[in-house]
Amino acid sequence: MRTDTGRIIHLADYRPTDFVLERVDLTFELDPTETKVEARLIFHRREGADPNAPLVLDGDELKMTGLLFDQIELAPERYTETPDSLTIRDLPASVPFEITITTLINPEANTQLMGLYRSNGIYCTQCEAEGFRRITFFPDRPDVLAVYTVNIIADKAANPLLLSNGNFLGGAGYGEGKHFAAWFDPHPKPSYLFALVAGDLGVVEDTFVTMSEREVALKIYVEHGKEARAAYAMDALKRSMKWDQEVFGREYDLDIFMIVAVSDFNMGAMENKGLNIFNDKYVLADPETATDQDYANIEAIIAHEYFHNWTGNRITCRDWFQLCLKEGLTVYRDHEFSADQRSRAVKRIAEVRHLRSEQFPEDSGPLAHPVRPTKYREINNFYTTTVYEKGSEVTRMIATILGRDGFKKGMDLYFERHDGDAATVEDFVKCFEDASGRDLTQFSLWYHQAGTPQITVSSSYDASAKTFSLSLEQMVPATPGQTAKEPMHIPLKFTLIGENGAEAQPSAVSGGEVTGDVLHLTERSQTFVFAGIGARPVVSLNRGFSAPVNLHFSQTTDDLAHIARHDSDLFARWQAITDLALPNLTAAAKAAAGGKPVECDASLCDALLAIASDDSLEPAFRAQALALPSESDIARELGANNDPDAIHQGRQAILSAIATAGASTFRSLYDGLAASTPFSPDAAGAGRRALRNAALSFLALSDNSPAGAAEAYAKADNMTDLSQALTVLAHRFPDATETHAALSSFESRFAANALVLDKWFSIQATIPGEGALDRVMRLMQNPHFTASNPNRVRALIGTFAFANPTGFNRPDGKAYHFFAEEILAIDKRNPQLAARLLTALRSWRLLEPVRADQAREALMTIERAPSLSSDVADIVERMLKG
Ligand code: PHE
Ligand code: ZN
Repeated sequence: MRTDTGRIIHLADYRPTDFVLERVDLTFELDPTETKVEARLIFHRREGADPNAPLVLDGDELKMTGLLFDQIELAPERYTETPDSLTIRDLPASVPFEITITTLINPEANTQLMGLYRSNGIYCTQCEAEGFRRITFFPDRPDVLAVYTVNIIADKAANPLLLSNGNFLGGAGYGEGKHFAAWFDPHPKPSYLFALVAGDLGVVEDTFVTMSEREVALKIYVEHGKEARAAYAMDALKRSMKWDQEVFGREYDLDIFMIVAVSDFNMGAMENKGLNIFNDKYVLADPETATDQDYANIEAIIAHEYFHNWTGNRITCRDWFQLCLKEGLTVYRDHEFSADQRSRAVKRIAEVRHLRSEQFPEDSGPLAHPVRPTKYREINNFYTTTVYEKGSEVTRMIATILGRDGFKKGMDLYFERHDGDAATVEDFVKCFEDASGRDLTQFSLWYHQAGTPQITVSSSYDASAKTFSLSLEQMVPATPGQTAKEPMHIPLKFTLIGENGAEAQPSAVSGGEVTGDVLHLTERSQTFVFAGIGARPVVSLNRGFSAPVNLHFSQTTDDLAHIARHDSDLFARWQAITDLALPNLTAAAKAAAGGKPVECDASLCDALLAIASDDSLEPAFRAQALALPSESDIARELGANNDPDAIHQGRQAILSAIATAGASTFRSLYDGLAASTPFSPDAAGAGRRALRNAALSFLALSDNSPAGAAEAYAKADNMTDLSQALTVLAHRFPDATETHAALSSFESRFAANALVLDKWFSIQATIPGEGALDRVMRLMQNPHFTASNPNRVRALIGTFAFANPTGFNRPDGKAYHFFAEEILAIDKRNPQLAARLLTALRSWRLLEPVRADQAREALMTIERAPSLSSDVADIVERMLKG
């Protein structure tokens, strides 16, 4: 484990290496506990570099058993080895030289899952961000690009499969039951994209013919017996390859593309060149075991990793501060892909829900940081929703500002100008400026200023002058290390809706730049005046969520209901419903806190039920409208002094009121949407299931009986319906006999399927209320609870901390203290996992004082613990300080 040194890395200190790495030759002799790695590295001193500078290589927990200089053993006085570096002195000033390093590593003991490790008997690697230095001493930074040859030697019976990046060169027997394989990757790459896999796996094979008629072999490797469950992933891969050619003009560049699914993985998946490694959760699916959400995630993540081949691999990052250059852009690309494969509006609603529930809290709490940070202590902690999702939103805004063609020209220039480079955010933005002629200096603040901009809006209509005025004021809140902020360039899509629902067309606009349907807010405060407007319009602002901001705009209930009914942008209609619901939900939380009865506006019920039963709208959209803002959305709206119990009670009361008012609507929806056709995971089928399950959940409230959900559970013929029925049973009727029966039948039916058992753990971890902590502690004793498997830990402890507000935030603080103990235990095995889970407490300062004090205590217990990893030390200290 990398224990904390407290050292901070600054962007301003960036400088290129003194040595250029020309070639890498790696030979692995695989052994579960003693793998021998021989690295032959050819370097030359960079032109203009200090002729006396030593070569400094990174390492992490390595045991070096040999060091050669041009094939001759290096004298001890010429090098210094420390736990995290190898420094070699007296090297040639200009001629190339070869360094050969032999290290011994123990894959079996590698519980942090960085570097080379074993998962279920499979050797696999994870090198991003700094895992390669756990394999050999190396200049382990993304601006060192080299061509790799990899030789793998292993026991043949246990490891019939030997894989690495690039193209297969050949293989043969290697004495005593061993064999070897050689791979060559012609594309220069940084070490974080290196991958190796060895073991015994099943395969699904296909081919793809690219736009220049090259045939690419596609292979997805999974555990034996799970091949059929990889079919959807293969289909998603082929659609991704086709889409990237059609939309971005990007063609695949090797003869083979491989995906390997492993069951122990810290993240979702990894874009290693030609050999993606996936958390099996994002590969395996069939109707019996995967939900519609699982299918959508698989499609998105397969696409995401594939798209990295150009945005990340062909053009990589100069340093880790530029992480959003590959991640924000690639998330934008996968969002666009999914939008094209499914319903664009519904996809956008889901993205915005996710952004608001994850990124907005991060951006307003102690862990807030810019999309392009300028310093870090532990890079692992910057794989955040700000870098990914806000990074994607920033890319989307460039597309909004430049328009479709301008954006495309900029992207084409980026690929042309920077192919083969390790680039920066400035390089990226410059391409859009050069391609469009538009100055993006002010816009670039989106990369540098943290915090969600708050925009206060007011409007007025002058009937005699026929002018409509819209006043906007922007404010970017202070965030850690950034107190004063500059006004940003905020592109807001808008429309003015006339009385009859048609768009009002102004004859002129003054007060600021408007291009097409985009209003450019660039000043701290600005008033746009629209002339030639015959009647007071209703303004629909930030349509499609064109900018990731918070709008404070007190539109009347009538205006919101008008938008909810008439806007031609479905996203705006959903937003209007949300805006109608939020004041009801916050008032309900306040009423519940004061022990007062909760009331629900009839206009909210009317608007919701109108949408629910409007057959002209796609079912997936109607389901999104019925999924009211979450408890964490309400907490964010309330701002401070949060009482999660009151928020929960208030929200439940509103849901009950809607359930009662809409009982007959929900009944006919539920009956009318019964599955008739055979199961298909497509968006239309998923939408019908989502709407039907939303109706089921309301019916359970109005019936106040588990019977309906128990029947739905018994009849379900797919995992979406089965898990939804189980969730309704467990969350609404935790003590009912029907619930116990369903939980135990589910457990025994899926005992052999880890991914489905994860759902079983998660559903129980999110049962609200006082009993939650005891339940979670009991579930940790379940024989299926495996603390070494990240998915299982996330399913139980992660879901409890992130998604059970009442259970986790119990006022006596016991859940926080339990959590702190678990974080410390997990940190010993897997620091990255521990640090990521710990961010569940990122909004602790917004809790009411009793809970906030308890949370602080728990954080301090962690902070005081001896020998924290740098990952956890970094998070806990920022959370207590910020
Ligand atoms: N680069 C991976 C992705 O976004 C994420 C990842 C980061 C995976 C670090 C493992 C380790 O696609
Ligand atoms: Zn990525």
